[in-house]
Amino acid sequence: MLAIIGGSGLTQLTNLEITRRQVVRTPYGEPSGALTFGRMRGRDIVFLARHGYGHTLAPHEVNYRANIWALHAQGVREVIAVNAVGGITPRAPTTPPSSAKESSTREALAALSGPGAIVLPDQIIDYTYGRKHTFFEGAEAPVVHIDFTQPFCATLRSALLAAAGRAGVAVQQHGVYAAVQGPRLETAAEIDRLERDGATIVGMTGMPEAALAREMELGYTMVAVVANHAAGRGNSAESISVAEIGRVLERAMQNVRTIVEQLVSGDGS
Ligand code: HPA
Repeated sequence: MLAIIGGSGLTQLTNLEITRRQVVRTPYGEPSGALTFGRMRGRDIVFLARHGYGHTLAPHEVNYRANIWALHAQGVREVIAVNAVGGITPRAPTTPPSSAKESSTREALAALSGPGAIVLPDQIIDYTYGRKHTFFEGAEAPVVHIDFTQPFCATLRSALLAAAGRAGVAVQQHGVYAAVQGPRLETAAEIDRLERDGATIVGMTGMPEAALAREMELGYTMVAVVANHAAGRGNSAESISVAEIGRVLERAMQNVRTIVEQLVSGDGS
């Protein structure tokens, strides 16, 4: 079964015909909320709001282990994680574009990484700390080192890419997701550092979720929705408008729902 973990801006899948809700107990404590089971285009899906249905859990308060364990226990084998992010738009080159073509290429690239853009990242850098980040700990548990070279499931990524194509929604198919601790947003200098590290988007909830999913051998991939220019970039040069983030996410999540609907109707499974 496929699960969707919704982040900020996606606390429900309005195109899901809900059949039941279930509270799942886990050895790791409470998940973020009851799992919502339903059908979309004839396929069984389970939805979980990562921050709780009333958006009450901060990124470092989310019980990632309980969430992943609960989904796995209910028969989930594939997860699409939806995450709001800041876009680390590259600093504009100081040289003016040498041609109209170069100028329009720069604009197109900026549109694909600015607010409202949807990114399917292919890499992660983890800067979080103090979170319960593994199932493999404690006296009884074996020491296990999972391979995490490619943190996202290639099959699920390709299926999402194809679904976005069918839905006519433009997506950026590469991205390096920097997972930061939050809940505060970053300083401009921190964003400069993340860019030097190679990150293109920044969010607070991608880790340890992705690694825990890999530990449970789930196929897991992320749909990142750019809510704002990251600190110090674009119209966030002086400050980030938190009110604007909400408005951008509300519009962009409609595109995410459309892509998910295409995904489940297109692959026939
Ligand atoms: N930084 C970190 N997390 C975020 C941001 C951001 O700018 N926007 C949405 N989630």
